[in-house]
Amino acid sequence: MKSRSILFILVVLMATFQAFTQESGRVILTPKPGPEPRIHGARIFGVRPGSPFLFTIPATGTRPMKYEAVDLPAGLSINSDNGQITGSLAKKGAYRVTFRVTNAYGKAERDFRIVCGDTIALTPHMGWNSWYVWENHVTEKIMKDAADAMVSTGLADHGFMYVNIDDCWAMKAGSKDSLLIGPGRDSLGRINSNGRFPDMKGLTAYIHAKGLKAGIYTSPGPTTCAGHTGSYMHEASDVKRFIEWGFDFLKYDWCSYGNYAKDTTLAEYEKPYILMGHILKKQRRDIVLNLCQYGMADVWNWGREVGGNSWRTAGDLGGSFDDIGKALFRDGFDLYAQRNLQRYCGPGAWNDPDYLLIGNLSNWKGQIVPTPLTPDEQYTQVSLWCLLAAPLILSGDITRLDEFTLSLLTNNEVLDVDQDPLGKGGYRISKTGDLEVWAKPMEDGSWAVGLFNRGETRANVSLHWNDLKIKGRQKVRDLWRQKDLGVFEQSFSSEVRPHGVIMVRLCKEL
Ligand code: GAL
Repeated sequence: MKSRSILFILVVLMATFQAFTQESGRVILTPKPGPEPRIHGARIFGVRPGSPFLFTIPATGTRPMKYEAVDLPAGLSINSDNGQITGSLAKKGAYRVTFRVTNAYGKAERDFRIVCGDTIALTPHMGWNSWYVWENHVTEKIMKDAADAMVSTGLADHGFMYVNIDDCWAMKAGSKDSLLIGPGRDSLGRINSNGRFPDMKGLTAYIHAKGLKAGIYTSPGPTTCAGHTGSYMHEASDVKRFIEWGFDFLKYDWCSYGNYAKDTTLAEYEKPYILMGHILKKQRRDIVLNLCQYGMADVWNWGREVGGNSWRTAGDLGGSFDDIGKALFRDGFDLYAQRNLQRYCGPGAWNDPDYLLIGNLSNWKGQIVPTPLTPDEQYTQVSLWCLLAAPLILSGDITRLDEFTLSLLTNNEVLDVDQDPLGKGGYRISKTGDLEVWAKPMEDGSWAVGLFNRGETRANVSLHWNDLKIKGRQKVRDLWRQKDLGVFEQSFSSEVRPHGVIMVRLCKEL
């Protein structure tokens, strides 16, 4: 009798919990990966001739797994225990490779293209950045823990690759923290890291050993936004230093450069980025260049030309903690639709609406707290970013990801939209009041579509084939749930929660 009443209480509690999570929208839709191997992430990877190559095959499945890459071009080899492909390619060329991953439960195969040429970042960057959780407290230990977490959480198995230090690794004149005080540069003019980063080379080696890549940050001005040493007049020697240290990614943040630009002409806005673009092009190491100047002078018009692989399109999405939700709609939806930003991105060069602000973030008052975005807004951010072909850089605490947050970052069918090799940016195809439909053409001829509800009450959102200029019977698949919804003609409608989304893919019925 006693155990039956305990069981009853448990059932009631579980039902209440379920009802509560459903009401709040904190519902996990992403199906859990099975024990059998599955290969994920980008299907194409760019490298320049002579640059060190590192790409790790992202795959889920029970370990141990055996990795193979069939038809790997000369110069590259694979570690069959961990899927890391390393080496370098001497000549330009495009290579078709087959990845194969095997474990006790089965085998997975996937076609992959390696393109050795002038262009890197053929799909949007995926990774983690320290800023929105650790801001000016970042340390070497935090970065190592982040690399560990990228692997242990399984994010690396879904294609997350870059572990990026933001501001605050260099010296800071006048700081109260003794670890930050010291000469900004050594006697040879080489930039110094501060006492929180005693061994940069060791740090990148640690990150690379996990099959991941390392990112660093600096400013074209003499100081960074947080007042640390910047690269003004030392651009080439700083790049040399970053390469000696082993970095693969550079965020170049305008900051104090504003005091050095002569005027507000386009030429002055472009100048520091042209300089950095030239320097990086000459190196025998591929460094992804992320321009961070908040969208000034319509950077999307010239970001690619100056050598940028991505450019921030607006100010800081999380600059005001309480307004992240508002910023998401303003700097995501509105800016991209008004300026038709899809016209500017493509393989090698991406619009960057800033980081994924999910999980735990700094509230800029000395605490790390859960994101203020509602669960629906979190689905909305990830869906929109994938439709825009935006870099997917998490900036919440990667070492404390709950199951819900992790589920938002590990849905392969959603991530495939972002990483599609065609590299088209999505755009708004219809807007009826608060209801918006966004669509992205995919390489296989299908369409990825987001049905968004920016309003405060549940509403029905409709997608009409006419708006996509397509005809006939279309198979519709719900990407978050990874479920086929049926075959539709002319239109598809679904109820969408307030500030929420339904994300689907449309394939012509053959
Ligand atoms: C801002 C930049 C942020 C962050 C910060 C560091 O200018 O937009 O992403 O890097 O500086 O101080």
